[in-house]
Amino acid sequence: MTEAEHSSAWPTQRRCRKKGESMSETLEPGIRHPRDRSSEHWQAEQEVLGPGLQAVMLWSELCVEKASGTVLTDLDGNRILDLQGAGGVNSIGHAHPRMVDALTAEAATAPAGAFGSRARHAMTDSLRKVLPGGLDRIQLYSGGTEAVEAGLRLAKSVTGKHEFLSFWGGFHGKTAGSLALTAGARTKLGPLPPGYFSAPYANCYRCPFALEPTSCGFACVDHARDVIRENSTGALAAVVLEPVQGRSGNVVPPPGYLSALRDLATEFGALLLVDEMMTGFGRTGGMFAFTREDIEPDIVTVGKGMGGGYPVTGVIASADTMSASPFSDPSASSSSFGAFPMACRAVATVTDVLVEDDLPARAAKLGAEMLALLAPLVEEAPLVGDVRGLGLAIGIELVADKQTREPVGKDVVRKVFLALMEAGVLVMVGGNSLRLYPPLTIDAEEAHQAVALVRRTLIGLPSGGA
Ligand SMILES: Cc1ncc(COP(=O)(O)O)c(C=O)c1O
Repeated sequence: MTEAEHSSAWPTQRRCRKKGESMSETLEPGIRHPRDRSSEHWQAEQEVLGPGLQAVMLWSELCVEKASGTVLTDLDGNRILDLQGAGGVNSIGHAHPRMVDALTAEAATAPAGAFGSRARHAMTDSLRKVLPGGLDRIQLYSGGTEAVEAGLRLAKSVTGKHEFLSFWGGFHGKTAGSLALTAGARTKLGPLPPGYFSAPYANCYRCPFALEPTSCGFACVDHARDVIRENSTGALAAVVLEPVQGRSGNVVPPPGYLSALRDLATEFGALLLVDEMMTGFGRTGGMFAFTREDIEPDIVTVGKGMGGGYPVTGVIASADTMSASPFSDPSASSSSFGAFPMACRAVATVTDVLVEDDLPARAAKLGAEMLALLAPLVEEAPLVGDVRGLGLAIGIELVADKQTREPVGKDVVRKVFLALMEAGVLVMVGGNSLRLYPPLTIDAEEAHQAVALVRRTLIGLPSGGA
């Protein structure tokens, strides 16, 4: 498949469309065939797999035959627009031809091991062009939580301290330290490591102080200061946050918030760790989301879109920060799979495509268009309480009551998710929110088609979501 074909929504159908046949007759996504094969396949897998897979996977029971660009085709021939994007992983579209070529060639010779390699050199060359000024060192890992844990170790190494402040509604992973940062996911998983505190995020739709963003004077930051003062033993190593909170439904804090937290961290002699796992590598319209404000974090964690589907993550910092011991001691910050050639080739390829095709700018433009078309749902759709987002990270919060903003239950989220899938759009969820993460390569026609399907579905659902 050529690159031009790949970038269009439904390449195969477009090639086969007969003269005079309208596009909608051939391009229509949605569940149009009985899902017998998928069902059988799913059941067979579940006989061996353990429980606890992602809820959206369990709800959808989607078994994919092939994936291209934005489109997933299931085993029964149903075509779905993938706005789930594996929660922000699918940055350059499924099976991007450059990725297919690069990884296929690499697999033929790649040794297992973190040796110096042509792939690693290509990656470092590519990353030089995008790493934010001053933060020019990266250490690679293979999972998001692994990178976050490494970021915490780095913060401890730099400061000699061990406490962390994170934020309500944030998500940073499920291992010891990252779970302790992740408010609201701790039930029955204690005890947590000591020295982890959390404070409300600047989620203005759900401001715990019932204030307005234009006049609040960042009361949430003042509260965070109080949380540190009340809880800390004077050993705060880092303030840890997502610049846009993904799992809470892509909550975008108001301008000035990141700067206020930068100052707060400095006030306590702590570092600022920005977790850009979901937002980084172009997703929110810039290469990194924190660059919306004139700040320099000390540590940035990245992953997801950086590998475009290959499992690779990283910790970014300045050479000076990264030289702190014990993080910098031989074998202290390494991992078994960090910087294997396949991972490096994936990062180099994604980065080159992002830069050459100016995909962050595309995300900003298309994301703004999609957001503008989705925003009226707050008035039009019985269940929609809020629509927000930045670039191609869009959130739609579902509420049972628009006045009280009472969140809908999981059962309603599930029904809405399945109704959208039936209509032909796969989304991500988080709590009571729908999360949309189209590939940054999505073309305008596909984006508008997806928006139209989401709008039609949500407007058609009653307030109970049935
Ligand atoms: C901001 C953020 N940090 C960390 C993680 C953890 O990544 P992983 O699931 O690969 O451990 C995630 C995963 O969604 C995330 O969104």
